[in-house]
Amino acid sequence: MHAKMTAEKLLKRKREGKKITALTAYDYPFAKMVDEAGVDIILVGDSLGMVFRGEDNTLKVTVEEMAYHTRAVRKGVNNAMLIADMPFLSCHLGVEEAVRAAGSLISEGAEAVKVEGASGIIDVVKRLVEAGIPVMGHIGLTPQSIHKLGGYKIQGKRSEGARKIISDADLLEKAGAFATVLECVPEDLASIITGKLKIPVIGIGAGPHCDGQILVTHDLLGMSADFAPKFVKKYADLNQVAHDALAKYIEETESGLFPDEEHSYASPKRLKAI
Ligand code: KIV
Repeated sequence: MHAKMTAEKLLKRKREGKKITALTAYDYPFAKMVDEAGVDIILVGDSLGMVFRGEDNTLKVTVEEMAYHTRAVRKGVNNAMLIADMPFLSCHLGVEEAVRAAGSLISEGAEAVKVEGASGIIDVVKRLVEAGIPVMGHIGLTPQSIHKLGGYKIQGKRSEGARKIISDADLLEKAGAFATVLECVPEDLASIITGKLKIPVIGIGAGPHCDGQILVTHDLLGMSADFAPKFVKKYADLNQVAHDALAKYIEETESGLFPDEEHSYASPKRLKAI
């Protein structure tokens, strides 16, 4: 039995040097499975645009869609802290608009929101925190800026870029964020940022020195056959398991082996007499 995770407990984890685990979920069955496994944070990530809907990037995901998925995930989560992504542009249309969008995700059961970027949205972060909405940052590779970044590539390899990411991390902490995701940066830079910040740094493709790790659940379960970045470790090959099961169902149905007696309802005696 795992106890309920909160922002305060995550900070304590960092102070005690205990690693934090985070995974994504977009629907009820996955949320239930991941929560029961004992993960600390469940993120309704806007990666659902790519993983769940098959799009090329996360840019089409709307606030309404995030709210819909958050409602489904909420039903499956008991103990993990539930965080929902603020999708593309939702932090850039004015502070009031951002508060309204975050509010709609909180209304559906999220306990915090995650925002991409830092320097351009610091007013939004401060205002959300003031409004009582815990904020997680997301810096380094920020997929919503894919066109500006020119692709999904490692960030902070040169000193200028590295300094910018360090400064973003600092800005987020000062604005009141309770944690930040750090995506796709060299492990030494991640180590510097993790050492500098008091708030937890949750890495993805950022090496082993972060306070915790996050992965897309579908990736670690091996459900995305065509997606294999270096930082994803496949803990299972569910794609293959599902292919084998589906092929067997088709074969057994076509050959008449399914449904057998075990999977059919026996007729009552009076029907047998007909
Ligand atoms: O959208 C998402 O799933 C994310 C994580 C991969 C960090 O932002």
